[in-house]
Amino acid sequence: YEKPEMNGAKVVVPVSILKDGTIKRIQSLKVTKDDVIVASFPKAGTTWVQEIVYLLQTGLDFEKAGEKVLETRSPFLEYPYPGLDFVEKMSSPRVMKTHLPYDFLPSNCGDGKIIYVTRNPKDVVVSYYHFAKMFTPLSFAGSFEDFLEKFEKNELPYGPFFDHIESYVRHREDSNLLIVTYEELSKDPRDVIKKIAAFLEKPLDEEDVQKVVMHTSFESMKKNSAVNYEHWDDLGFRNKNESKFMRKGKIGDWRNFIAPDKNKALDEWISEQNKIKFPFV
Ligand code: PPS
Repeated sequence: YEKPEMNGAKVVVPVSILKDGTIKRIQSLKVTKDDVIVASFPKAGTTWVQEIVYLLQTGLDFEKAGEKVLETRSPFLEYPYPGLDFVEKMSSPRVMKTHLPYDFLPSNCGDGKIIYVTRNPKDVVVSYYHFAKMFTPLSFAGSFEDFLEKFEKNELPYGPFFDHIESYVRHREDSNLLIVTYEELSKDPRDVIKKIAAFLEKPLDEEDVQKVVMHTSFESMKKNSAVNYEHWDDLGFRNKNESKFMRKGKIGDWRNFIAPDKNKALDEWISEQNKIKFPFV
């Protein structure tokens, strides 16, 4: 991993995507007014918000949403599959995904809409740990404590976590940026879905809101092969004896992994790093 710098923002990203010019290409991608970028630190609730946004952008075309895996309906910009050639050929409205900080986004991203998803860092690190063990290109073999140490040292891909969130919060007054949290989405999906719909200028009636709530509940998404990444099993991307992509879908699972004394130290680290005092639940 390397730490490229962009307008003073640093991020740990896989060297491969730097060397092959992916970041440069992303920056020159032409964003239209109908495009939406769902941005997040890994494991913050990206997939959940992508599926909500996809439904809203297609006028709630549930059928279409079930026809293809999310990776092709809502491409991950810096990932080799389906790739930037594919993204460039897609017609708007596009729903794109990225884990890059704000300063690495397409330079005209202000012409489209951006939704930033964030989540309590303790649940992020627990989810990320399970993902890093499960995802074969990462195949993390250490303990949770080792992984947490890497998180605190800001060594994990897309870190530092707090620089990431700060890069978006700095733009919170921009009319084309909406910030949502995993926690508010879990506690009140109706309200957050309505907020996202209003932001995208695609208001829904109560019945449609309920349909989106049901379709994007954890239980539904876990069963839905168009969003649960189970096709990774066939592609060899999942260590089969590790967790699934749709793992627990809960707030506060960190309590099962972070012991009270470690939690105290982690709280101190968080309050020191969280300079913008983002109100995590
Ligand atoms: S990624 O790889 O960065 O795109 O992952 P991301 O989608 O951001 O995060 C995966 C975690 O989100 C949980 N998830 C959900 N929770 C509740 N409801 C829904 N619909 C939902 N969809 C995904 C997923 O289970 C991962 O969290 P953990 O805590 O590991 O279960």
